[in-house]
Amino acid sequence: MAKRWTNDLTHADVTPEGAFLNRRQIMAGLAGIGMAGLAAPARANTDLEPTDWDVITQYNNFYEFGTGKDDPAANAHTLTTSPWTIKIDGMVDKPGDYALDDIMSKMTIEERIYRFRCVEAWSMVVPWNGFELKDLLDMAGVKPEAKYVAMETLFRPEEMPGQNVPFIEWPYVEGLRLDEAMNPLTIMASGIYGKDIPNQNGAPLRLVVPWKYGYKSIKSVVRITLTDKEPPTSWNKAIPNEYKFYSNVNPEVDHPRWSQETERPIGGGIFAKRKPTLMFNGYEKEVASLYEGMDLRKYF
Ligand code: MTE
Repeated sequence: MAKRWTNDLTHADVTPEGAFLNRRQIMAGLAGIGMAGLAAPARANTDLEPTDWDVITQYNNFYEFGTGKDDPAANAHTLTTSPWTIKIDGMVDKPGDYALDDIMSKMTIEERIYRFRCVEAWSMVVPWNGFELKDLLDMAGVKPEAKYVAMETLFRPEEMPGQNVPFIEWPYVEGLRLDEAMNPLTIMASGIYGKDIPNQNGAPLRLVVPWKYGYKSIKSVVRITLTDKEPPTSWNKAIPNEYKFYSNVNPEVDHPRWSQETERPIGGGIFAKRKPTLMFNGYEKEVASLYEGMDLRKYF
């Protein structure tokens, strides 16, 4: 599988030129600093310092395994992630049950170091490994009438103890507008720090949409449906006035119960300073055009 290093996409590096520039700069950097620089090529040329592995994998939201932040790390080992099949159906040319191994053999895995901003006003920086959702959708062949992509998490209460409790309606469901799903920033992640993604982070494959609040990034996906109707989403169904479909990170639109102006980086210790939250989580240049003319206070 090919591997292309990319960095924080506040720069132009969603484009091939940008990726090329990064590689060149990395090579130039290595030439200058010698072998000692080899340990950190993926981090070169980004202002983002990835959060520690232990933090990313032990402070989680995955309600199928409990409601506490440390419940998923404690409980998710019960999940069987192999074999894994993803049903792709709805408005596609080639609907079917796709074996994950087959999918992975056809996709280009890249590293993407992204900001991750939860609606609860905490944040991390995660070095994901994954592929662009667009490549998977292209493989299935999206029909012209499709306007949205719906996704569903596995429903297997015998392995996901939280699903025995009606905390929210199971299975967890999420969705994107088709142009959001096709955006080059939108990935399906299968790894973190170059290792297989741990169960508690959504193994074996989860969505990552870095400009939206974390709850859009649905874990352990088993079904992807192309549709012409805005699909239902779990948190909107649970608390409709607080969580709407778009869920774009926006420091100017407060949650009904708290401000979204700042965020608490996890892993910096309890005295870590809060940081200002960025419009579209720092990916404004790449995604603002998707929402041109939309009232983001209404469509939040
Ligand atoms: N996906 C499923 N299936 N179940 C969940 O409870 N939680 C969401 C999202 N995806 C969730 C989910 C929320 S609220 C957040 S903030 C992120 O996953 C957390 O991802 P992380 O634990 O990898 O940081």
